[in-house]
Amino acid sequence: MFVEIPRWMLVSLAVYLSIPLVVYFIIPYVWYGTRSTKKRIIIFVLGDVGHSPRICYHAISFSRLGWQVELCGYVDDTLPRSISGDPNITVHHISNLNRKEGDVSVLFMVKKVLFQVLSIFKLLWELRGSDYILIQNPPSIPILPIAVFYKLTGCKMIIDWHNLAYSILQLKFKGNFYHPLVLISYMVEMIFSKFADYNLTVTEAMRKYLIQSFHLNAKRCAVLYDRPAAQFKPLPGDVSRQKAITTAAFTKDYIRNGFDTERGDKIIVTSTSFTPDEDIGILLGALKIYENSYIKFDSSLPRILCFITGKGPLKEKYMKQVKEFDWKRCQIEFLWLSAEDYPRLLQLCDYGVSLHTSSSGLDLPMKILDMFGSGLPVIAMNYPVLDELVQHNVNGLKFVDRRELHESLIFAMKDDDLYKNLKKNVAQETENRWQSNWERTMRELKLLH
Ligand SMILES: *[C@@H]1O[C@H](CO)[C@@H](O)[C@H](O)[C@H]1NC(C)=O
Ligand SMILES: *[C@@H]1O[C@H](CO)[C@@H](O)[C@H](O)[C@H]1NC(C)=O
Repeated sequence: MFVEIPRWMLVSLAVYLSIPLVVYFIIPYVWYGTRSTKKRIIIFVLGDVGHSPRICYHAISFSRLGWQVELCGYVDDTLPRSISGDPNITVHHISNLNRKEGDVSVLFMVKKVLFQVLSIFKLLWELRGSDYILIQNPPSIPILPIAVFYKLTGCKMIIDWHNLAYSILQLKFKGNFYHPLVLISYMVEMIFSKFADYNLTVTEAMRKYLIQSFHLNAKRCAVLYDRPAAQFKPLPGDVSRQKAITTAAFTKDYIRNGFDTERGDKIIVTSTSFTPDEDIGILLGALKIYENSYIKFDSSLPRILCFITGKGPLKEKYMKQVKEFDWKRCQIEFLWLSAEDYPRLLQLCDYGVSLHTSSSGLDLPMKILDMFGSGLPVIAMNYPVLDELVQHNVNGLKFVDRRELHESLIFAMKDDDLYKNLKKNVAQETENRWQSNWERTMRELKLLH
């Protein structure tokens, strides 16, 4: 005879016996997936990974600290070795829907976004149990809302602000803020970004803007400066500069007989858009004083070849000024170079000159970064925030007017020890700049301890 076991007891027993299974297998499976004991960060870019240098630098920096990095994006081109060869970084390809030639219909856009959403969800499911997710903004749709949703798993969200998505869209619609797409984009950006745990911005100006207009917490928002783009590299040590300047198509016509960098002649370069806030007149004035010093006091002053690249409203005026003066020791040439040739020209120069003064007083000139990247010390017009980038006698020389610029030029042209020292610091700094800056910023945000 059997004792009738009550149904509730059986159910309780089954529940009891399944507890270990749930606690040890199912919950970990659902919540942690394949994570290991290391800290894990997902880095998401809805663009080609190989063409998103900043995102790659983030990945490398987290990897150096021993984090497990899951880098998600489109992989169109071959990846740089620093990414593909790094055991701490796993690259995940997001599948993309390719647009048929000329298809700009709304239907296609909707399909594309839906497809993206599905692939992103699939990926995030595979990577569940991460500690952080870092996304780049723009684009904010669809990744921003998804990342906010993903925060439910206990993951912290970091937004790296490169720009504002809605303002870019607004430009496309002729500045119309009330275009429905612009409004939607603005709302998405404004609402969902409120959930970010940390904000990074590329400039101080951007940071201030976000704090004021989007009312974000100033303590959780930090500036992380860019580093020079990869095409700006110093001239390789085994290349002869004199030979390069006399053969390169964009310089050879300007090299006069007897101009010899190996015998101490110098090349300086400045790039400008010839607007009133960059006074090329100061440079021309200083070079005229240099001429005077050469004639009256010191006939050993090196020759200077000065390249001024760029175009803009005041170019004609300055070209005329240059033509009217009788130059003996300096030669000034106006160039307009392609994006490929400009980095090549920088490599061939001794010093970069920056006449940039910031109108807002908040931004740093990208061109100085590019000069540093090419290994050039800079002679820069000083203004308050420039201290963050250029230190006098360390990686460059600073001036405020044409007299000081002239003095700096004399030092720069004559003092080889100074030059070597500045150049050494520039090279070191370009190496270290990103990593140290990055670590400081992450510490500021209390992301690293
Ligand atoms: C990968 O992480 C380990 C620590 O887990 C670290 O020692 C190593 O330097 C990292 N590798 C790279 C290439 O940064
Ligand atoms: C990050 O920025 C967004 C808006 O841009 C803001 O709403 C959010 O509160 C910020 N997060 C922190 C932690 O400050």
